[in-house]
Formats: sequence, C-alpha cells, structure tokens
Amino acid sequence: MKHSFNNLSVASFESRRSKEIGRLIEYHGGIAHIAESVVEIPSKSSKETEELCVKLKNSEIDIIIFLTGFGTKLLLENLEKRLGTKPAKNLLSKITLVGRGIKSRSALRNFGVTPMYSKPVPNTWQDIVKILEDKDLLQNKTVAIQEYSKKNSSFTKSLKSGGAKVISIPVYKSALPRDTSSLENLINNMIRGRIDICLFTSSQQVANIFRFAKKLNKSDKLLQSFKNTVTGSVGSNTSLALYDHGIRADYEPENSRMGNLVREMARRSEYLLTKKRTSAKNSVDTNIWKRIDTNWGNLSEKKRKSITYKSEFMKACRREKTDYTPIWIMRQAGRFSRHYRAIRASQTFLKLCKSPEISSEVTLMAVDQLGVDAAIIFSDILLILEPLGINITYTKSDGPRILNPLRTKKSIENIRRFETGELDFMYESLRITRKALSPEIPLIGFAGAPFTLASYAIEGGSSRNFELTKSLMYKDPELWHQIMSILTNATVKYLNRQAKEGADVVQLFDSWIGCLSPGDYKSYVFPHMKELFSKIDKNVPAVHFGTGTASLLKLMKQAGGTVIGFDWRVDIDKAWKDIGYTCSVQGNIDPIVLFSTPSIIRKKVKELLKKVDGRNGHIFNLGHGVLPGTPPDNVLALIDAVHEYSSR
Ligand code: CP3
Repeated sequence: MKHSFNNLSVASFESRRSKEIGRLIEYHGGIAHIAESVVEIPSKSSKETEELCVKLKNSEIDIIIFLTGFGTKLLLENLEKRLGTKPAKNLLSKITLVGRGIKSRSALRNFGVTPMYSKPVPNTWQDIVKILEDKDLLQNKTVAIQEYSKKNSSFTKSLKSGGAKVISIPVYKSALPRDTSSLENLINNMIRGRIDICLFTSSQQVANIFRFAKKLNKSDKLLQSFKNTVTGSVGSNTSLALYDHGIRADYEPENSRMGNLVREMARRSEYLLTKKRTSAKNSVDTNIWKRIDTNWGNLSEKKRKSITYKSEFMKACRREKTDYTPIWIMRQAGRFSRHYRAIRASQTFLKLCKSPEISSEVTLMAVDQLGVDAAIIFSDILLILEPLGINITYTKSDGPRILNPLRTKKSIENIRRFETGELDFMYESLRITRKALSPEIPLIGFAGAPFTLASYAIEGGSSRNFELTKSLMYKDPELWHQIMSILTNATVKYLNRQAKEGADVVQLFDSWIGCLSPGDYKSYVFPHMKELFSKIDKNVPAVHFGTGTASLLKLMKQAGGTVIGFDWRVDIDKAWKDIGYTCSVQGNIDPIVLFSTPSIIRKKVKELLKKVDGRNGHIFNLGHGVLPGTPPDNVLALIDAVHEYSSR
C-alpha cells in the first residue's frame, strides 16, 4: 500500500542522499523541499588512525565498532593505505568487527571482511551495547570506535561501564556546505510557515541548521516555526539532538532507516499534523511537549462522547455499518515496540503501571505509531489483586509471581474488601489519556475475568495445567464460589469505575478459561460471569475474550458481552454462525502470522475478511496478544491491509 502526504510540503536537510529522499517524498505524494546542510570533510589529523594501526599489529584491539557507512569506507581506506591491503584484511579478520546499520556492514563486506553476525542489524548505539553485553564481549576488552562529527559520550560511558577500554578514531568532521543559498531559502520557508512536515535523518543536520540560523540571526524564529511543523526523526541520536535544541520529535520509526521514516511519516502525516496544529492553536507549547499535553479543543464531555460514539469501533460494537473494519491489537503497547522497551528500561513494570503520566504516554504512543482504531489503557490484569491483599511482583524470566498465593481457607478468609480507591493511579491514567486522546478514538479499559485472576492467585503465577486451581474447585466448591464471588464483585466495581473515569469500552480477559470443559464452565464459572455482565454499565460495550475457547463460545456468549473475542484456533465464520449473529465479534489472526512476511500477512487478512463477508459487527484483532520479537513493520502491514481491504 502506498501512503500519501497528499501534497503536504515536506522538508529535508539530507545531504549525501538528498536526491534519494526527494524522490521518496515525491513518490509518497509530498512536495519536497530539500536543502543540503552537511558536508563531510575527512579528518586531516591521522594520529588516531596511526595509533590504531600500531595497536592492531600488536594484537591490542579486540573490537572495532563502525558507526556510519561513509566513515567505515574512509577508515578502511586509511588502514589499507598504512598497512597494505592484505595485512589490513588479515589483522581485521582476527578481531570482532561491529557494523551499525546496513551501510557500514556492506562497506565491511565489500572490503572483504565479515561484520559480526547479528539479527536484527543493530541500528543504534544502544543496540550495539546490548549485543556486546549479552555476548559478554566487553569485560577487559579494548574497543575502538569509528567516530564521526561529535564524540558520543553516552556510548563511550556505556561501553566503559561494561568493563571495556575505549579509544575513539575520528575520521571525518561535518561542516556547512560552501553554497548555503538553498539552505537559507528553506529556513526562510520554515519561518514563513510554508512547511508542514520536516524530516531529519542525522543529528548533524539539526546542529548545522541551528548553527546557520544563528549566523542569520534567526535561530529563535526557526525554533518557533517547529511549533506548527510535524517533526520526524530517523532515530534516537537525531531525536536527542532535536531535544537538545528545544524540539521533541513527533515521530520516530521503529527501524532507523530513511525509507521507513518517509513511508511512516506519509502514513501518519495527516493525523500528526492535525494533532499538532490543533494543540498549538489551543495554546500548547508543541515544541517540548508530550503526548499527554495534546489538546483537541475545548469540547464538552457530551460533545466528546458523541464524537467517540460515532467512531468505526463503536459502530462495530453496535453492529452498525462501518466505512472500514476497525482494528486494534491486544498488547499493542508492549515489548514488541522499541519505544516501549526504551521507556521500560528505566523502571520496573509495576512502577510503570502505577505512574499515570507514563502509562498514559505509553497508551497514546501506540495510537500515534500504529494508527489503530482504539487505545487500550496501559496496565495489567493482576493489579486488582493488590487491594485485595494479594501481593504481586513481575520477574524477568517467568512473568508474574504472587507472593502470598491463596492456598488455604484462612488465606481466602483474609482477602480484604475491595475499595476502588486503591487503584487511583489507574483512574488517573484513564483521565489523562481520555483528555489527550483524539475524540475519534475510543479508550478501552479492562480487567481479568474472575477465573483467570483466581488461577494466578491460587497457582502463584503462570501455570500449564492449573492443578491447584482446579483441584480446589473440585474439592471445595463452596470455597471456590466464595473466591469467585469476591473477584466478581471487585471486578464489577473496578470496571464501572473505569467507565466513569473515561473508558468508552471494557474488555474482560479470561485468558486461561480454555482449560475447562463446558460442563465445568457451566457449574463453576458461568453464574459468576452472568452476574458480572449483568452488573456492568450498560452504556459501555464489553468485549468478552478468552483463549482455547472453541467449545465454550456459546456459553460465554450466554454469560454476556457485547462483543465476543475469538482466539485464532476457530474459523471466524463458523464460530460466529454457531454463537449466532446477535453479537459482534473480535479477532482473530494467529499472532505468529506476524512473524512471516507482509505479503503473507496481506493474504491472511484478505482471507479473514472474505470469511466475514462484510457482515456488520467485526472488530479486527489478533487471536491473542502481539508477541515480543514481532517485527514492527509487519504490525503496520497488518493494520494497513485491514484498512485497505475492508474499505467500503
Ligand atoms: O494490551 C495492552 O497493550 C495493554 C496492556 C496489557 C498488559 N497486560 C501489559 C503487560 C494488558 C491488556 C494485559 C493483560 C494481561 N496481563 C493478561 C490478559 C491478556 C493475555 O495476554 O492473555 C494476562 C494473562 C496478564 C498477566 C501478565 N502480565 C503476564 C502473564 C505477564 C508476563 C508475560 C507477558 O505476557 O509479558 C504480564 C506482564 C505484562 N503485562 C507486560 C506488559 C507490557 C510485560 C512486562 C514487561 O515490560 O516486562
């Protein structure tokens, strides 16, 4: 699918590949404004390269890190000049060579040496640190870095703290081009408000345009112009440079490549521009801003709700005709995303959930990046256990752990009465998110269903066979129903409060219910689910989801839910027919399909939509959460395919 800027004016300061980016922008329907801002001047001083040669000969270097394609070529040429072709290749083949990005890796291969294997290819200095740390390659090693422009001290520091000795080899400097007339022209166009989108593909571009604007005495005006211009950044170094100049990048692709930046900006340009300009008009400083600062105008709550009510997602919940099939993705703000992992790196998962501003930012991030038709509040199903006196922790290797699992009658009698107030952070996050979220996008609140919650509380964590849960259920039905009642009551209160604080829809995750037979579901779970659905706010559609539920779907539908969620193990057409067309359905691509290729994904989407055959009331989703390690480009391909093929 070709995305379009729809004739927006798109600026770029790319230099070496200025023609390429200009062509890409035009291919995607943008009006390209290109001005070269950087020339790379090979460093005259050869002291460091000379030193590197000596150390290579003395076997004193363990690793060389190549950061740019151009720099890799220059450094290899220099080594070849000093050492001779054969000895240079020989010495390099004895040590570890790390190439950042595909350009530097192909430069190494062209020279006849092999970069260290790594999939995916590292694109940032953080990726490189992680790879070397994971392989335990830093302790007591000497690492040389091919530097460019300014030295990256955070990178050096990270390598040193892993136990390495670091030496820097500068190979080129960046300067302004000799002829600056087109650069001056573009800066003036920015200042005059003639540019809609500005794309940065390196940190030097940022430094150079501000250096030049200062010379022109226009740096303040240039900075102001970014308030109404959507800024795309190719990667974290470039975003950092923007931040240092007082600008927060509005978009960064998951893969730090020029092609991804242009394509994904074209994909999101209209939305990002509306969001930014509406916010600016409503007095938000959109230069150093966060997603939670977004202002969509001073809509009354009534007006906002009426807009959300008419969204494609809400229409699908009511089985009304939609313009296209709405899609969201379970776990859409999870570990598959580099942006999520970056935020998560500095705090524990629980801290993240309990910090409303951060969890809101993460929720909104997924909507900005993916272009899905609903947001889901960032939280976890197990948090409701804490106010009940059941303590949880999340371990790196085996997921959630319950510190005081329910095993005895006494521990069950000790469960505290649920007070909704104890989950205030969640409500605060809903309020912040609802305010900053486009009124056209519904916000999903959620809870774990009582059986799934009970299974965690009793087993003490994830389980394969649910021995403890089911044996308690069989041995002491009375106690079992007591636990289920407590969890049902708490869940009703929790979800109704979420609805009051901004959730437009709720989803019940009964993730592990598929371990029960229909008969056992009927006796041990059904009455509680029936009660639960009868007590939740009727104005808020509820999605009822579980996995492994092929034999339970009819009962689940009877228990309640506006929308029934299917996992990927059922045929959507047959399952829907089976349970009756009197409800909407959600699903159900196998999450593993996203590990294939965009063309296979498109084929699978087409097949699924064909089965649904345009019937009203289908919300597209995976059959379970998106898995860590899923290629982000494939997630975008899925969303685009659904929107494209279902467009009516
Ligand atoms: O969908 C979203 O993007 C919203 C956030 C969300 C999370 N968990 C975040 C999360 C939602 C809706 C959940 C629901 C949840 N949590 C379920 C039901 C859905 C499902 O997948 O079946 C379950 C069973 C849990 C319990 C849970 N939480 C487990 C088993 C784990 C560890 C393993 C895993 O899947 O990641 C968690 C932790 C968790 N919850 C993470 C996230 C992003 C990963 C935590 C991390 O960053 O380390």
